[in-house]
Amino acid sequence: MNKPRGIRLAGNWKMFHTQAETRQFFRSFQSQSSILQPGHLKAIESKHLRIIFFPPLLSLAAGLDEIHKATFPLRQAEIGAQNAHWEMSGAFTGEVSGAMLQELSISWILVGHSERRQYFGESNESCQKKILSFLQQGFKILYCVGETQKQREKGQTYDILTEQLSTALPVELSSIPGVETGDRLAIAYEPVWAIGTGLTATPEQAEDAHQFIRKFLWDRFGMKMAGQLPVLYGGSVKTDNLQSLIQKPNIDGALVGGASLKPDGFLKLISTAAELLEA
Ligand code: PGA
Repeated sequence: MNKPRGIRLAGNWKMFHTQAETRQFFRSFQSQSSILQPGHLKAIESKHLRIIFFPPLLSLAAGLDEIHKATFPLRQAEIGAQNAHWEMSGAFTGEVSGAMLQELSISWILVGHSERRQYFGESNESCQKKILSFLQQGFKILYCVGETQKQREKGQTYDILTEQLSTALPVELSSIPGVETGDRLAIAYEPVWAIGTGLTATPEQAEDAHQFIRKFLWDRFGMKMAGQLPVLYGGSVKTDNLQSLIQKPNIDGALVGGASLKPDGFLKLISTAAELLEA
């Protein structure tokens, strides 16, 4: 199946996996990756299928070390941080800066995950500061948006998405190198009611929101950039629903929480996505 923006599969580990467990995860992933067929490997090698892991902060170094020691295909996976502060340094107790992550060669930072919005007061304004700062520092950004159950029931889904996107993604972003081509900025649509609940948006509900996001990107950044930015779906993605979601034209992959925590489960998601690319 032709997916013009390819497929990205990202694992958000949240506050799971210590350093030792992270090493164990990647070692098992490497040894079990023999389940991947030549066609699956080709999709990864050609970068039509990209894999990103977001381990907890203290497990980042262990994860990077295991990936550097690994052979293809794990070697090609990228690692991202789940959060950082927008300032380069300063009196911000408990925080970590982009400069500190850069020392580890971290490539991605997740911004605006609903758990950070809900429990740690992250706002659309702080997301904007983070996105601008991290892009200027050379990171790639996966920016999460999505409505709560109540907001959906009240028919506010589009308004919420518009607020989240318009505040955090100022028009000047497009002049930062690599943003326009979709290499350094991706969006994740994660309806809050579907995260960790076992309730997934139907492929139609998800595609509808993705179409809305694509239209926003078109209006703000123009047709070319809107056509290049990947928009991933997140919220209870598993092997049995991944395929029907990523078959939709505007769904360019998935941000996976619970189902990314075990190597065999995540490898199954990878083979499912690769098969769709082959079909
Ligand atoms: P879930 O989490 O797959 O466990 O629903 C997704 C996420 O929070 O990114």
